[in-house]
Formats: sequence, C-alpha cells, structure tokens
Amino acid sequence: MVATPTPYSLSGPGPGMMVATVSSGVLHGVTYPKVGGQTVQLGELLGALSHALDLTEGQPEGHCVRCCWIGMQVADYLDLSQEDRADLYFTLLLKDLGCSSNAARICALYRTDDLTFKRNFKFVDGTTRQKLEFVLRHTGQGDSRLKRLKTVTGVIGRSGSLATELIQTRCDRGAEIARLMRFSEQVAEGIAGLDEHWNGGGHPAAISGDEIPLFSRIALMAQVTDVFTLQMGSKAAATELEERAGSWFDPDLVPVFTRVIRSPGFYDALTSSRLEASVFSDRSARATLTVDETYLDEISYAFSKVIDAKSPFTYGHSERVAHYTDMICEQLGHDLVHRRWMVRAGLLHDLGKLGVSNAILDKPGKLTEEEFACMKLHPVLGHDVLRRISVFEDVAEVAAAHHERLDGKGYPYGLAAADLTTDMRVLTVADIFDALTADRPYRSALPLEKAFEIMDDMQGTAIDPAIYHALKDAIAASPWPAREERPFSPKL
Ligand SMILES: [Fe+2]
Ligand SMILES: [Fe+2]
Repeated sequence: MVATPTPYSLSGPGPGMMVATVSSGVLHGVTYPKVGGQTVQLGELLGALSHALDLTEGQPEGHCVRCCWIGMQVADYLDLSQEDRADLYFTLLLKDLGCSSNAARICALYRTDDLTFKRNFKFVDGTTRQKLEFVLRHTGQGDSRLKRLKTVTGVIGRSGSLATELIQTRCDRGAEIARLMRFSEQVAEGIAGLDEHWNGGGHPAAISGDEIPLFSRIALMAQVTDVFTLQMGSKAAATELEERAGSWFDPDLVPVFTRVIRSPGFYDALTSSRLEASVFSDRSARATLTVDETYLDEISYAFSKVIDAKSPFTYGHSERVAHYTDMICEQLGHDLVHRRWMVRAGLLHDLGKLGVSNAILDKPGKLTEEEFACMKLHPVLGHDVLRRISVFEDVAEVAAAHHERLDGKGYPYGLAAADLTTDMRVLTVADIFDALTADRPYRSALPLEKAFEIMDDMQGTAIDPAIYHALKDAIAASPWPAREERPFSPKL
C-alpha cells in the first residue's frame, strides 16, 4: 500500500489565511493536523467555509465575507455591545447556511438551473412586473413551448405560497444549523428573518418593521449592497437601497448604509484582495467560541448537513460515508486520533457538490458529456474551499481524491495508484459503498449482496482490495442496515 503525498497542488494558499496555529504529526504514513491550543479563529474558519455557501447561491466568490464586511462597517455607526457585535458578525457570515435546502425544490418546481435562478433572483426587487419577468425568463429552460407554458402557469398561480415554502425551508434550516454550531438565538433568528421586508411583504412570516430582527434587516441590506455593487457599482447600490427604503428596508438604516457605500474608497475596499484578511482580523471574529477538537467535529458535522441538504439523493450521504470510513479505519487498526481526522474528511468530502446544479445532481437519466464535466468539478470546488483552512489542509487533499481510481481512470485528475494514499483509498471505498447501497436518481438502493458483487469486480482497478476487505469485515461484524443515529465522531 502506498502512502505518498498528493502530487498535485490546485493553487496556493488563500489570501490572508492560515493564521491558526497548527502542530502536525505523522501517523500511518500521512501527516495529520491537530488544533494547537485554542488558536484557530472561528471567524476565519467559518469565513473560509462560507465560500461553499457562495457556490450554492450562485454568487461570486467571497459574497458572504463581503456582506460581513459591509455589515460591520454599518455596525460601527450603531451602539452595539461587544457581544451583539459578534452575533451580528456571525449572522452576516452565515446568513446563507440554509441555502442548499431549497435548491432541489427550486430545480424541480421551476424546471431550471438552481444556481442561475438563485443568482439572478437577488436582482428582483419584488414588483409584480419584475417577478413576472423573472419567472418567464427562468422557468422551464430547455422544455417544449407547451410544457414551459404549463410550468409557468403553475408557478405563477401559486407564486405566493411557493415563495413562502421555499424561503421557509431555507430560513428554518439555516437557523437550525446555526444552533447546531452553538450560536446564540440572536444569530439563529437573524438568519431565519433574512427574507422579511420592512413593509411586511417578505417571507416566510411576513412580519414588518421592528418585528423583524435587527440583524436580519442588516443582513438583507448587506446582501443587496454586495450584489448590486459588484454588478453595477456602488452608486447603483446606494440608489437601490434608497428606492426600497420603507418597502424592503428599514428607512432609518438606509442612510447609514448609503453613508458607508458612498464613503471614498468603498468599492475598492470591497473588491480588494485584502478584504478577507480585514474581516478575519475584526475583533468580533475572536470574541466568541473557542475552536477545539470537539468544536471542529461539530462544525464538520454541521456543514455535512448543509452538503447533504442539497439533494434528496444525497440525504445522509456524508454522514454515512464518514461512518463507513471510520469502520474501515477501525478495522485497519488506526488509532482514535487518526479516525477522528478521517471522519471529518468523510463529512466534508462532497463539499464541492454545493456548486453543482441540482439539474445535474438529481437528473434521473444519463448525464450528457457537458453535465458530467460539471459533476467532475465537485472535488476541485471542495478542495478550493477546504484548502483555505489550515486545520483542514490535509483533509482537503484526501477529500479531493475520493473519485480517483487505482487504474488512473478516475477524476478529476486521473491519479494513478502510486499517487493514492491509504486515506484516499479508504474514503473512495466508503463513498462507493454508500453510493451503491443508497437510492440514486436513476435507481433504488442496492441490497448489500448486490453492492458487494459490484465492488468485488472493482478490486485492483478502482479500489484497493485490502481496504475493501476491511470494509466487508467491518460490515459483517455490525448490524445491517444500521444507518440511524450513528455518531459523527469516534469517542475519544
Ligand atoms: Fe463525490
Ligand atoms: Fe460522495
């Protein structure tokens, strides 16, 4: 079994990153990270992970981090306690935590690409004309005229209830995941109220005025500011906020935002490569929870929930892959420290799927060449996010290789056996096993015997026989199926 370092490097370290102190050790032939003391900054860690949320929202990279910066500029004009300031910081950074949960539904209802839909919807101002134009432009793409007409008529007829349903799912889920990551109710409620409008015309609760949490009001305005500034410039962004004062936005907050937006150097600062470093050095980024090993497990678990919510066919996938990974590692005799690290790789291995449209992920038939090319990008997208986080640097390398094969016919790089470490091989076996034993868009879950029959034929070409046998032995020694309530981390 070969355990060489990964031979490729996708790109250099992210700007302004890697301030966490990490000590490394060597175990089973690979380098593994440990959190050194309590020096991993939560703001930096979640700021990096927020890039995965940008992918799901079809937003230009760094959207959540820029929103955080905009909101914190505004916060400087408000009389907030240090604790409230920190809560606002994380509300802004994590406002899109629930974004993956309605992607499949958008795709199915509107028969469209959810990424383009979500990106362009951020420019709709809520007037009937704009909403109608948006629906006409984005519904039933690629369908016949008749089918398209039927879909358009259907969604227009139910537009109010559909918007509430889609936003409710997103907001509830986002708040739930924020609580899972130990954030305060203020952060959870700030995320849950993101799409409420000052005049009561928003969703899902249609609350108005001061009933809307202050942090939700700021987050929505920061979002619109970023989207309009990047696309049309800061002047257009300020005008947009002023035009929606009293309808979408708190009229008292609008002048504070426009003062920030019209201040000299706003556009340059917002688009500067140093912005991320500036956001991560904000005192609020350090004013909250300490990142230790347990909390890193919890954050990995919370993000696996975001990943798996993207498609009904990946529901529970990351958690199960993490579990099978752990079973294999235990069977191979790996110690608990290494197993814990591998569980995180299992939980996060498909992070890049957040950047793949549900039109592809959930397609019931064979993918076209172009669609498969998009699908093949997901390990690269995930690597691009994880490599930004110093404590996940090695996880990033292992996760990026989960579709590689021993015979070099895998993707995205076509790595050969000599390039694939034991950890990479373990993750691949766990991933394939779950893919076979879970429902897919194009077939039902296979029974255990059938899955093993298929994997028997993959030995030596796609998967490592010794690791595959470790999985078989571990499965034979456990109840099957046993998918519910699995721990997401081995007990240390
Ligand atoms: Fe994958
Ligand atoms: Fe996977």
